[in-house]
Amino acid sequence: MNTRIQWQDSYSVGVPVLDAQHRHLIRLINLLEDEKQKDGMIAHVFDELDAYIREHFRAEERMMEEAGYPDLEEHKGDHKAFNDWLSSVKIAYDSGGASSYYIAESVIAFLKNWLVSHILVTDMAYRSHLS
Ligand SMILES: [Fe+2]
Repeated sequence: MNTRIQWQDSYSVGVPVLDAQHRHLIRLINLLEDEKQKDGMIAHVFDELDAYIREHFRAEERMMEEAGYPDLEEHKGDHKAFNDWLSSVKIAYDSGGASSYYIAESVIAFLKNWLVSHILVTDMAYRSHLS
């Protein structure tokens, strides 16, 4: 099943740079859906997710810190869980034990769930503090 995700205004956390990064993640999910069979696509997505952690999580955490956001530590815990998930899925991919189709499907499922449970809930909670 291929269900493309479309950005909606209700996804906005009120900070343009963070919205742009969230849009990028959505594009990445759609790209993986469309081209999961393509050689090197999963490795490409892993590289993009490494960059996403480096740039986006850091930017978000810095802004929350500067705003004195009260739930910063809990939020950082969510980001760490993403980081841990990425490490373990990379290990699974590198070990060659699972087919790349299966890995791609599970990455897509994780990222879609992340969009709903983290971006639309945990990130949305800082909206009034940051914007
Ligand atoms: Fe976040």
